[in-house]
Amino acid sequence: MTKLLPLPNTGALTGILEALAFFRDPSFAKKRFDRLGNVFETSMLGQPMVFIQGDKAIADLLAQPEAIEGWWPESVQQLLGSHSLANRNGAPHKARRKVIAQLFSSSALQRYSSGIVNLIDELSKEIRTSKTPFPLAEKMRRFAFSVIATTVLGLKGNDRDKLFTDFEIWSKALFSIPIPLPGSPFAKALKARKRLLEKLQVILSQPLNGKGGLDLLAGGLDEAGIPFADEDLGEQLLLLLFAGYETTASALSCLMRELLLNRHLETWLREEIDTLDWPPTPEQAHMVYDPANAPRLDALVKEVMRCTPPVGGFFRRTKKALVLDNIVVPNNRVVQVALIASNRHGIGDLDIFRPQRHLDNECSLNLMPFGGGERVCLGKSLAELEIRLMVIGLFSNWQLEVIPDQDFALRQVPSPSPRDGLLVKVKV
Ligand code: HEM
Repeated sequence: MTKLLPLPNTGALTGILEALAFFRDPSFAKKRFDRLGNVFETSMLGQPMVFIQGDKAIADLLAQPEAIEGWWPESVQQLLGSHSLANRNGAPHKARRKVIAQLFSSSALQRYSSGIVNLIDELSKEIRTSKTPFPLAEKMRRFAFSVIATTVLGLKGNDRDKLFTDFEIWSKALFSIPIPLPGSPFAKALKARKRLLEKLQVILSQPLNGKGGLDLLAGGLDEAGIPFADEDLGEQLLLLLFAGYETTASALSCLMRELLLNRHLETWLREEIDTLDWPPTPEQAHMVYDPANAPRLDALVKEVMRCTPPVGGFFRRTKKALVLDNIVVPNNRVVQVALIASNRHGIGDLDIFRPQRHLDNECSLNLMPFGGGERVCLGKSLAELEIRLMVIGLFSNWQLEVIPDQDFALRQVPSPSPRDGLLVKVKV
């Protein structure tokens, strides 16, 4: 029998320097894994936290659902709210997941796909009339927000725009120090949260306009005993706006950045795009660019998620002592699955961006950009659909080029995104 080992520790006590390093240094976890192994403990602002990487440790964690529960940092917990399914565990979590999952079934996606195609065509028209360079990352944010706000939740243009400003204030403080000092980002975000919930409540109390997917929820809500216009549902919608927006916008912006900075990649992808029709028919839009028909696009998306995962890590809390990759992790420990480090942990050129690795099954990493187990992302298929439609729609219509004098580096928090917004212009 293999001998079990104690949990290595960085020795950090207050965790102030560790937290600063975590937010500033994308190699934070890698440096510590190199020194301490695949499972180690440190402190982040006084919160003990176990970091894990590698297939074995992650599989060991997710194989024991009864011994773990969901966990998010205090700032996320407070800004999402106590009703949010992200902050719930056990039966209340399962019941809400079942209700919300109805918004992402394959028939729901089919329903949304022509709305998504319309949003891409609107963006195309905007690009046609733009005389000056524009920040592509900003356009991706607007698009991802519109998909979830208009196409899924059925909000009208006016309601959506009113939400957007508060939403930007709210989401900026999600991963911040949760002390509401007057004027601090967290204090502003708490106020924005209140306004957002009030607006969502008003929207929920109006008759459904037949657009979006909210009508799909009715039966499930009754079954779960949640009234339709309840604060509970408001908080689930707030979660969807957040979860469905920042992450998808990040994936799209990072993908565009790779394509526009590496012309050989764009040429390689265009060979495939040239074989595909745009726009797709309404009946086929939800599946016509799937991996079977667009394998290069699929490989590109996988590589973006590997190199710049929109969510750098996801969390669980242990409800009893667990053995992860031979290391004993005690009860009541927060475990962070460190995706950035894990995605580069293995043999070969894993530090290089090379989508082709996913085409020949040469990549043996078990990628988990959408998390795993009982809390795996509910919006995975929607996010993938949005990304595929946007890449094909945009690149079928336009040749874009980047403006040279800008910072192409990525800011990391809350999700990777080009610092200067990826300024581009249409190639003439
Ligand atoms: C590229 C885009 C996206 C990425 C990378 C992503 C990633 C993730 C990750 C890592 C988690 C945590 C999973 C876990 O703890 O195991 C999560 C949870 C979640 N995501 Fe996504 N997500 C994306 C898009 C979306 C979209 C479009 C929606 C819906 C509109 C969505 C809704 C959710 C919800 C509701 C949860 C909470 C699930 C639960 O706690 O049971 N996500 N996502």
